[in-house]
Amino acid sequence: MRVLFCVCCLISVNIFAQKTDSVTEKKITTLLSKMTLEEKIGQLSQPVLDEHSKDVENEIAAGKVGSFCSFNKRHYTPSERNRLQKIAIEKSRLGIPIIFTYDVIHGFSTIYPISLGLSASWDLNLAKQVASMAAKEARYYGIDMTFSPMVDVSRDPRWGRISECYGEDVLLNSVFGKATVEGYQGNDLSKHENIGSCVKHFVGYGLSMGGRDKQFTEISKNTLLNTYLPPFKSAVDAGAVSVMTAFNDISGIPASANKFTMTDVLKDQWGFDGFTLSDWDAVLELQNHGIAGNDKEAAEKAINAGLDMEMRSDMYLNLVKSVKEGNVKESVVDEAVRRVLRIKYKLGLFDNPYIDDKKSNKVQLTEENRKLARKAGAESMVLLKNNGVLPLGKKGRLIIDGPFTNSKDMLGWWIGNGDDQNVVTVEEGIRNKTAGKLQIIHGSLSRNYDKTVLICLGESGGNFGESNCITDVTIPKSQIELVKEAKAKGKNVIAVIFNGRPWVLTPIMDYADAILIAWHPGTEAGNAVADVLFGDVNPSGKLTCSFPKMNGQIPIFYSDRISGRPRENKYKNIDANPLFEFGFGLSYTKFEYSNLKMSSNTLKKDGSITVSIDVKNIGKREGKEVVQLYIHDKVASISRPKRELVKFAKPNIKAGETQTITFNLSASDLAFYNIDDQYTLESGAYDLWVGGSSNCELSSKFTLED
Ligand code: NOJ
Repeated sequence: MRVLFCVCCLISVNIFAQKTDSVTEKKITTLLSKMTLEEKIGQLSQPVLDEHSKDVENEIAAGKVGSFCSFNKRHYTPSERNRLQKIAIEKSRLGIPIIFTYDVIHGFSTIYPISLGLSASWDLNLAKQVASMAAKEARYYGIDMTFSPMVDVSRDPRWGRISECYGEDVLLNSVFGKATVEGYQGNDLSKHENIGSCVKHFVGYGLSMGGRDKQFTEISKNTLLNTYLPPFKSAVDAGAVSVMTAFNDISGIPASANKFTMTDVLKDQWGFDGFTLSDWDAVLELQNHGIAGNDKEAAEKAINAGLDMEMRSDMYLNLVKSVKEGNVKESVVDEAVRRVLRIKYKLGLFDNPYIDDKKSNKVQLTEENRKLARKAGAESMVLLKNNGVLPLGKKGRLIIDGPFTNSKDMLGWWIGNGDDQNVVTVEEGIRNKTAGKLQIIHGSLSRNYDKTVLICLGESGGNFGESNCITDVTIPKSQIELVKEAKAKGKNVIAVIFNGRPWVLTPIMDYADAILIAWHPGTEAGNAVADVLFGDVNPSGKLTCSFPKMNGQIPIFYSDRISGRPRENKYKNIDANPLFEFGFGLSYTKFEYSNLKMSSNTLKKDGSITVSIDVKNIGKREGKEVVQLYIHDKVASISRPKRELVKFAKPNIKAGETQTITFNLSASDLAFYNIDDQYTLESGAYDLWVGGSSNCELSSKFTLED
């Protein structure tokens, strides 16, 4: 039986936190009443600063620039920003400030691990701190808003942008998105240590067909509601001031002209009062999608569907004509402008439009930030295999080899204001740590007196990210050979891998004694790797995306649905399980789970129960363990995921210690969009599992009562 849960309570928790005060709204009304239609449309345009170098001053003075984006940090020095802002304030008729935006994705001057890596830390406080540090560096550099976080649930490692999200899971994208928005925005956006957050890409982009970038997507309304929209809801509830629309079409309706997602869901249901912004040229491209015959029609379709601001293409200039012809109501333009102005007030730009450019240098790449980058790098690493060869001793000899041993290519795809010259390489990190006590031998695999070889493998930051999609995610042949050769010479082989997506590691499984996934860890890469290799940091990262056994298994993720005939859901040559499952990761110690208890096996629809489990550290080292709780709704109006992550915790447990971890499981944790696309609770039987990965076996059952 189905029970309709209070939708308002569940999905509109923080609606009022978004609203600005009535005084500001009055100011906006007054300002709007003074604006010409051309000036209003100017507020809705976000040109690319780099492309307007010649006529930029005139454009600003004419009120044609609402915001700037840029892909070149050269244009975004604090003094240049102040100079341009001054033109807007002093030379434009109404003195409306500009919002300066930039891709501050995983750090600005100090670069932290790529988002996929950071999510493997399962540490939300860390994610918040990272965003907050990045915000301070960026705001003092003159940036008011960043195009981050990216909360596109992605289950396809062929898609280069999987590196930019928080993995394959809905809950993880939701909670990391929230923590990141909170870190960027702080409590007061007018403070120059905080920046506005534009969450992206709304919505479904992570399902790009065949793992090809900017492809269409085929998503049912129900899947949209249950899988792709919730992380955006979470970021919006956390107060994100802007939402960027995606490049994909959603079952035929491009995201940048999609009334259902932008207006019905985002603005009307969720109460979002910031502004929507298209991705780069996405309005122009509505013509390529085949839903608009010309520029004007593209602009009309976008704004009428709820797209407030346009990035790069000048399609919205056509709206002057559209309004005169009656195809777009001026009230629609006014509403879009109101949203943009509201965020300019929130950012404090009317009162304090300039940046203290003398302070900027003092806050970039500080020791404190580097320390955090080192910590984040180490916490995000995932140990996939260890025959006991790790951790390494700090004395003696170590052979090092592989293309990433001395590489500074550790910053990932988006590098903000980062400079690879500041990157600590693996060899430097090892030398820093061992202070001359460990002899390092380069690539001398033939010497049989040296037992252990460290091989640094991976892919360049230019191999993943936007438009960098590949059909084969298997570890490259030359890298497989390196591992095999070392093993053939009788070495203990440690493979450290700097990757931006899940890799097929099957070919090295029999040859590597230890495998450490390091992602692209950022500026402090080498120090962070050394911390883990030598055991100063006990690895505690766990995968947030499944690592397939073979390419042909893609897409592969833990939360798929149980079919009518599961025994046939496999291939002739291989089963349907990944090589390493979601939630998996080893430590230098071991944890034993026991004593799974529930305060009750029945749960009322407005109630909650506690679920507790004992986690014992049975090894000799202190360590952190990501304890995960999964559920499965056994009979529902629609088939539900075979497992769904609903809770997790990351306690630090001393050697020999047992900790009882307690989760509060509320009925609201079980709510979902049902067969009628209503957000509901459906009573009935549930399975529950708690443990150290999505394959965990300790289980229990409970019933959700009417
Ligand atoms: C296109 C990308 O899809 C988006 O993520 C990015 O923020 C914008 N370009 C601006 O650089």
